[in-house]
Amino acid sequence: MASSSSHFFIKHAFFHILLTLTISTPYAIGCYTAIFGFGDSLTDTGNSVHLSNSTEPPHYALPPNGETYFHHPTGRSCDGRLIIDFIAQNLGLPLVPPYFGGSNAGGAADFENGVNFAVVGAPALDDSFFEEKGIPNSYINISLRCQLSWFKDLLPSLCFTSSDCSKFLQNSLFILGEFGGNDYTRSFSAGKSLEEVESYVPLVVDAIASATNELIELGVETIMVPGLLPPGCSAAVLTTYRTSDMEAYDPTTGCLTWLNKFAEYHNEHLQIELNRNSRTTSLCFTKGALTACCGAGELPYHFNSSAPCGYPPSFAFDDPFLYVNWDGPHLTEAAYRLITKSLLEGPYTIPHINTSCVSTIVSAEYPNFG
Ligand SMILES: *[C@@H]1O[C@H](CO)[C@@H](O)[C@H](O)[C@H]1NC(C)=O
Ligand SMILES: *[C@@H]1O[C@H](CO)[C@@H](O)[C@H](O)[C@H]1NC(C)=O
Ligand SMILES: *[C@@H]1O[C@H](CO)[C@@H](O)[C@H](O)[C@H]1NC(C)=O
Ligand SMILES: *[C@@H]1O[C@H](CO)[C@@H](O)[C@H](O)[C@H]1NC(C)=O
Repeated sequence: MASSSSHFFIKHAFFHILLTLTISTPYAIGCYTAIFGFGDSLTDTGNSVHLSNSTEPPHYALPPNGETYFHHPTGRSCDGRLIIDFIAQNLGLPLVPPYFGGSNAGGAADFENGVNFAVVGAPALDDSFFEEKGIPNSYINISLRCQLSWFKDLLPSLCFTSSDCSKFLQNSLFILGEFGGNDYTRSFSAGKSLEEVESYVPLVVDAIASATNELIELGVETIMVPGLLPPGCSAAVLTTYRTSDMEAYDPTTGCLTWLNKFAEYHNEHLQIELNRNSRTTSLCFTKGALTACCGAGELPYHFNSSAPCGYPPSFAFDDPFLYVNWDGPHLTEAAYRLITKSLLEGPYTIPHINTSCVSTIVSAEYPNFG
């Protein structure tokens, strides 16, 4: 069960990260000269540790955090590198420094290759929202809007003329998230019902979409917007919501079904909103990750194992390239193609595949590749 569960987790995490990626300009990977990070503990590379006033250090400031790569705690909630670190390394850029607590904290010279504003526990929504709903804030009070304002304050020290700034922003990769996880975790912890928390999803998604719009208006061209990882597979969540009701668990993965459905609900909304707002997107699976293009049964899944693709009464929708899922267990060519592209061109796959070994095979297979 452990291995099938982690396979499920990785597969889903990967798709959500890919699927919500917004690219408004087909900049070649390798052209980026700076990375700007926003988010929570999935992205924080040291801000929270610095901002913490507690006499007791946060647990991620202590070993064995950091043991695998850095060999000491760095403030990352991880044994080693985060996605933003791997992306930086794959782009040939230095690790993105945290905004707070660097050797020259606040010095723009440190930030010419970008900076990371992410803070552990950061929600998408402002604190006022939680206050209004009577949801206690047990974390540092730093929302997406707050991180964005730090960026806007910093920008004038990174570029000077308008053409200078426009070029700088065009050549920068923005990683906006994941956001939303803390909004929902806080709300569930405060005893809010599933129905109630579902009603927050449009607000959370709107906050994320508004932030992407603000960045686009500033001249940013590439923003990566990760979706939620499947929370029902997290050991923390599985522990918190442990139940003797075996029906609550996915029998193959052991994950909590209702929570993963909730995350999918968020991710679907996010994807719809980003597709609506982005000027162009090269990852245009508008039919989502969840609906089988070819199958039988009701939406959103359109899957019935008794009527698999090819057997009546199954049928295929038009335009399979708009779908990730082909027949339930398998993906569409468009999805496989995209994954192959990202495997080869990065930066989403670690370790990076040696392209000199595979590029000829792939270009033969896909003459219009890229
Ligand atoms: C930490 O202390 C500073 C200075 O006293 C204060 O401005 C800040 O709000 C505090 N941060 C937290 C998270 O309590
Ligand atoms: C959270 O931050 C907002 C905006 O920075 C501020 O108005 C609010 O008072 C803060 N709330 C708490 C509990 O610190
Ligand atoms: C699945 O397909 C079979 C065969 O067509 C059918 O008998 C069954 O009712 C379907 N199940 C659902 C849930 O649609
Ligand atoms: C990649 O493969 C090529 C051809 O086999 C080889 O010469 C090169 O050393 C490999 N690069 C790495 C980083 O392994």
